[in-house]
Amino acid sequence: MSSPSPTAGAAGAAGAAPPPEAVGPLIRGLAVLRELAAADGRRSVGNLVRATRLARSTVDRVISTLSRTGYLRVEGRDAVLTPRLMELGNAYLSSCRLPDLLGPLADALADGLDESVSIAVPDRDGVRFVHQATRRRAMSLTFRIGDLLPAERGAPGALFAAQWGDEDWRRWRERHAADPLDAGFPAVPHGRTDAGASFEERAAAAREQGWSADDQLIEPGLVAVAMAVRDTGGAPVCAVSVVSHTSRHSARSLREAVLPRLRDAVEAMTDALKPVGQRRPAAPPAAGSAPASWTRASKQELGPEFVESLARGLTVLTAFDTAAGTQGGHGGSAELPLTEVAEATGLARATARRALITLEHLDYVERAPHDARLHRLTPRVLELGFAHLSGLTLLQITQPHLVELVGRVHDSASMAVLSGDDIQYVARVPTVRIMSVNITVGTRFPAYATAMGRVLLAGLPGPERAGILARTELQPLTLHTVTSAARLGDILDRAARDGYVLVDEELEEGLRSIAVPVHDRTGRVVAAVNVSLHAGRGTPEHARENLLPPLRETAARIEADIQVAGRYGRIAMG
Ligand code: PHB
Repeated sequence: MSSPSPTAGAAGAAGAAPPPEAVGPLIRGLAVLRELAAADGRRSVGNLVRATRLARSTVDRVISTLSRTGYLRVEGRDAVLTPRLMELGNAYLSSCRLPDLLGPLADALADGLDESVSIAVPDRDGVRFVHQATRRRAMSLTFRIGDLLPAERGAPGALFAAQWGDEDWRRWRERHAADPLDAGFPAVPHGRTDAGASFEERAAAAREQGWSADDQLIEPGLVAVAMAVRDTGGAPVCAVSVVSHTSRHSARSLREAVLPRLRDAVEAMTDALKPVGQRRPAAPPAAGSAPASWTRASKQELGPEFVESLARGLTVLTAFDTAAGTQGGHGGSAELPLTEVAEATGLARATARRALITLEHLDYVERAPHDARLHRLTPRVLELGFAHLSGLTLLQITQPHLVELVGRVHDSASMAVLSGDDIQYVARVPTVRIMSVNITVGTRFPAYATAMGRVLLAGLPGPERAGILARTELQPLTLHTVTSAARLGDILDRAARDGYVLVDEELEEGLRSIAVPVHDRTGRVVAAVNVSLHAGRGTPEHARENLLPPLRETAARIEADIQVAGRYGRIAMG
């Protein structure tokens, strides 16, 4: 991708030199992460060296360190961002509490109107999405959580700019003049628009009217109307947009159709933000997200390539995750004094302080306006790969883990989900072909005769399982297929207890498969992974002993990824 460097502001708020206490390795590590994010999550090491202007040895050490913390992996010459990195963005989303508190209200509004609804927050002179309830028809463009718009493009920006002072406007004019085609905003279509010309008027109108419209400011056909949700002091915390298409609505007819219900929703959201005692708890963090495994390793184990100050600096961001049990909370967001950051991360006070100074210099952390001793995360944290990673499909998340498994066991590995009464393959890494049919992504088999199917059936709530079994005719596909409903019921009960299933030659002669479940963050079985092999290769016991442990490790890694990636977004099947 040829997007010009969105790292323009990386040197600090206004390109200022870092303060003397700043942690250099943390600055450099974040620069590498930003370049990877700007390149859609993958870049060759040579390219990263060029883009960051860092020494090759520095980039190598950053990559080693971030591989160890699980935030990227190396594939050939490329460094690739991993879903685990989303725990940084998750920390921001949980600390600002907007998706947790307002997301369900936005979803209900989208259902009621049958239009897309999004929530966005101000991010300097831009607008960043923190929630999406998408009903997209006839639209080429969908913003992801974490995407950044220039304030003048789209409905929310005018609501935020209505509060800007001279300094904000000066900064905006400077940016708009320097980048008139919005090349620094990879999420929006580039090219000259007249969005800038009318922006000051639209901001003034938004202040007057309390709403703001987008009449195709982003792309032809896209229309939206937005209102701000304000804190108790009247400052806009976020904007809620209803988004439609000119095939259904003009900007005006959309406003007339939705404004009353948008107003009601915004009122309910304003109430939801009021600092009261009992609130909906934040979505709990993924089981696999804490604490990072490197924190338990010795310096020697980590090796000379591991840059501890970079890894430590990034854990400071995760300390703000409200589910980490440290939330302070004024106006609803997690705001922490230095002492609590140190406590939550296990870092020495001086170390935590220097990390905070660095992160504040880079605009990832700011002081609470009501108390300068309190620190909080900014939405800019989402620029660290969140938008790209939130778009990964289940296949993209799973495939690298299956490749790794196949490299260890030298047999084919797959993932499948339940689709009706069948299983359907969503990912597959084959070795030699041992099936008479060629399995590809999308292939279906009857669930009752496959190991992955039995794992998936075993994970269903009782009535659902019974429903499928009552509908299914248990046909003998080989001489070995279990065709007794009672026996199959016993097998499923045992599968639920044991957490795995081995099926020998029931789907096809000569084929053995062993499968384990993959759980989402609520503990529901959402997929199964298997290893399949020729039944002539050793006994079933041999398969159990040798394949089950690596298969379980792989499932655990996939689970950790989908739990982080699924916390604030929906993972597409792909
Ligand atoms: C969106 O959520 O996709 C969106 C929001 C506001 C706009 C346009 C699109 O003005």
